[in-house]
Amino acid sequence: MKRTAMGLAVLLSLVLTGTVPAYSGGGHGHKKVKKVGILLVAFGSSEQSAQVSFENIDEKVKKTYPGIAVRWAYTSTIIRKKLARQGKFLDSPEVALAKMQDEDFTHVAVQSLHTIGGAEYHDLRRSVGAFKSMGAFLRIILGYPLLATQEDMERVVDAIFGIIPKKRKKSEAVVLMGHGTHHPSNAFYAALMFQLQLQDPNIFVGTVEGYPEIDAVKGWLLKKKIKRAYLFPFMSVAGDHAKNDMAGDEPDSWKSILTKAGIRCEVILKGTAEFDSFVGIWVDHLGGPLGHFE
Ligand code: CO
Repeated sequence: MKRTAMGLAVLLSLVLTGTVPAYSGGGHGHKKVKKVGILLVAFGSSEQSAQVSFENIDEKVKKTYPGIAVRWAYTSTIIRKKLARQGKFLDSPEVALAKMQDEDFTHVAVQSLHTIGGAEYHDLRRSVGAFKSMGAFLRIILGYPLLATQEDMERVVDAIFGIIPKKRKKSEAVVLMGHGTHHPSNAFYAALMFQLQLQDPNIFVGTVEGYPEIDAVKGWLLKKKIKRAYLFPFMSVAGDHAKNDMAGDEPDSWKSILTKAGIRCEVILKGTAEFDSFVGIWVDHLGGPLGHFE
């Protein structure tokens, strides 16, 4: 068969049967049936309450993209080991992808449930790239985290305004606790604060492990003579950082530090993944890779 005729035959088989031809890994001339899967990848959390967030995402993804298999993986080794000791076994992205390869998935949309494109996200990029160069799937594409494009930034700003309690006065502050990272993408937190403050100068974003730190945030609040602050985690789940570093009773928690500085605090222990407005952004990002599979 000439190359053009073969191309036509392949195209016809795609159109008529919905199957895709075998790729090198398949061998023996078998035709593989197109099998699309979604792999949701979160940092992970060992907190029982965090499951609310993950279940919410799972439900929304299945509702938006019905009929597509959904798998989960956690990027954090520490969390996976902790869960394993409790008898709950979660896969790493690499193990989850190997299993999907074994199950003859041909097209895989990997969706990062991270907040920014930090170290975890870039590790995931590398793993996805490795599976791609192995030829494990016909297509494998990674979706952006929550905050990637300017459009995401604007949607996140709107989502944040949507969760601020109505009773909050404009003279009172809203302080968001981001995770923070040594990765260059830490700049997203200050960028987000800039965008928020264009609309409301009393909204602040701090981080646990990056810039801005709580001491900087405290200084800004005192300079503005703010007497009351609403504290929110800006993380997908209200896990350990939110419960302890933000809302805990220890003297080094954000609540304790601000309270000691004369700022009354009200804490809201809900992760962003508990709100549909944020989840919608992740779910829409999944539409990018899936759109390429049609
Ligand atoms: Co952490």
